[in-house]
Formats: sequence, structure tokens, C-alpha cells
Amino acid sequence: MITGGAGFIGSAFVREIDNPLVFDALTYAGRLENLKDVKHLFIKGDIRNFQEIEKAVKENHVDTIVNFAAESHVDRSIVDPFIFLDTNVKGVINLLEVARKYDLKLVHISTDEVYGEQENSTEDFPLKPSSPYSASKASGDMFIHSYIRTYGVNALIIRPSNNYGPRQFPEKLIPKTIIRILKNMEIPVYGDGKQERDWIFVEDTAKIIKKIMQEGKKGEIYNVPGGQRRTNIEIIDEIGKILGKKPLIKYVKDRPGHDKLYSMKNTKLEYKTIPLEEGLKKTVEWYLNNQWWWTPLLGDEFFRSEVPW
Ligand SMILES: NC(=O)c1ccc[n+]([C@@H]2O[C@H](COP(=O)([O-])OP(=O)(O)OC[C@H]3O[C@@H](n4cnc5c(N)ncnc54)[C@H](O)[C@@H]3O)[C@@H](O)[C@H]2O)c1
Repeated sequence: MITGGAGFIGSAFVREIDNPLVFDALTYAGRLENLKDVKHLFIKGDIRNFQEIEKAVKENHVDTIVNFAAESHVDRSIVDPFIFLDTNVKGVINLLEVARKYDLKLVHISTDEVYGEQENSTEDFPLKPSSPYSASKASGDMFIHSYIRTYGVNALIIRPSNNYGPRQFPEKLIPKTIIRILKNMEIPVYGDGKQERDWIFVEDTAKIIKKIMQEGKKGEIYNVPGGQRRTNIEIIDEIGKILGKKPLIKYVKDRPGHDKLYSMKNTKLEYKTIPLEEGLKKTVEWYLNNQWWWTPLLGDEFFRSEVPW
């Protein structure tokens, strides 16, 4: 059962699995449009509700849960942290309780942001989250660790770096930039725009997660860096180059608590990822060919606002 399978990374993972069961609350970020071309079974359900998860698991003889369900946008967490606690912490505890009761395997998707700004973090680094978002993800990870130790729950944690690709909600840097350039709108850039992120193409992440789901060991944590670090300004310039248009950049007040970089090391896995320039071209092409997908989202507050807090 794929929780959060109607979102950005979840829907890419659904494409890798034969006939999966998708369990998703369809929040602002979850859209059935993301799954319209893939065969799947769908249950509208909320990980904040234990009974809804339990019912779905029992009725469908679920043996594994892969959890993508989360509140995922840092800016939203600065404006309203409480829903991040509910979904990313209490929701994860509900999944752990169901996994414990029915002896299920839980594959949980976390993030590089739990390490904060540390260079070359390996899986045993201390967690130093900077935003309410990353703090909620780190808390979820700690509850998973505690359930493995205390109850022997069969769980593992995957920490990918920044993902990009088709179907990412336009609140995030790359789709926001593509759409704003297409619409001749200014692109708000936080601070000096020199914050570094490590990018990975979403279809690569989905394949790597599938392999870890099949071969990963109980109790392990797996970093999944893309190995392609770029500053935000470099990303915006590259997208401008692909579209053949100079981006209209507007520097705005920096995001409070903004991490200057994320940097993980992978010591456990072997995988290849496509080069960023190639993945960005594919992504831009997808947004150009699928304007029906993003046109209804142009009114979104976090796409529109320059400084949301
Ligand atoms: N996008 C990235 O760059 C990135 C990088 C590293 C890790 N992650 C992690 O990967 C996971 C997926 O990220 P994403 O970018 O696809 O997120 P997203 O915001 O695009 O999708 C989240 C999905 O979860 C669903 N959801 C939210 N709350 C729910 C609830 N209470 N019950 C059931 N479903 C709920 C939404 O409807 C949506 O379909 C998240 O855990 C995120 O923290 C994301």
C-alpha cells in the first residue's frame, strides 16, 4: 500500500509497481490527475486516522506500506507548523501502530533536510533540523527508530535529496521557475540565491526506492543523494537557458532559518542517476506539454506569494 501515492514522488513510485493500492487524503498536493494514466486501486484515506489505515490494511491484505504521505513544503511549515506535527509525526505513529499490530513492513520516506546544514552527512550523523518541516520529519524518523528498538517493528528509512521532475506542485523552486518564466512573471529568490541543494530526478528516486523496498534491511537508514549540487540561482539560470528566455529575478527577504546547503554521502547503495541538465530538459518539456495540469494551480497562495510569512 502506497500512502501519499497521489503526490509528486509517490505517483512516480506508483508507476514502478504492478497494480498497487494507493491510500491518499488528497490534500492540496495530492491529485488523482497524477495517477490517471496508471492502473491502481485507490482509497481516499488519512494517515492521521488510525481506523482508516487499519481498515484499508485488513480489507486488502496489505503486507507492506511505503509511506510518502506528508506535508512537504518548508514555507508552509513556517506559516503553520501544527499540521506538520499531525501528519509527519502523529501520522507516522499511526502507521507504526498498524505495522506493529499486523506485522507489516514499513518503508518510510524521510529527507536529507533532517541533517540540517552538515557537510557529507552519513546515516549515523546527528539530526539537526532547522525548519518546522524538517523537525517534524526528524521526529517521525525517531519514532520509527524507537518502534524498531522497542517493538521489533520491521521498518526502514530512506532519505532522498531534493527531487525534481514531472508533477511537482508549483510551490517548489523548479516548477515555480518554469511556470513563472513561461508566464513572464518575476521569480522571487530568497536572500542571495546561493543556497545549495543536491538534485535527483524523481524517476531515478522511484527506482531506487523500489530496490531498497525489495532488498533493504530492517532497521537500516539509506541516504539517497543525487550527487549534483547547484545553487538556486544556477538552477534558475539553467531553466532560463533551456526555455531560451532570461529569467526576471527578484531578490526577496531570506527564508527564516534557511539552510545554506544539504549534503549527504551514500555509503550503502549503488545506483546511477541521469545528469541534471538532461533531467531538467525532460522536466521543462513535461511542463510545456502539460499546461492542463498546472493551469488550475496558478491561484495557489504559495505559487503566487513572494514572501509567504
Ligand atoms: N520533494 C522532494 O524534493 C523531497 C525530497 C526528500 C524527501 N521528500 C519526502 O518525500 C515524501 C513525498 O514528497 P512529495 O514531494 O511527493 O510530497 P507532495 O507534497 O507532493 O505529496 C504528498 C502526498 O501526501 C498526501 N498526504 C498528505 N497528508 C496526508 C495524510 N494525512 N494522509 C494521507 N495522505 C496525505 C498528499 O495528498 C499528497 O498526495 C515526503 O515524505 C517528503 O518529506 C521529498
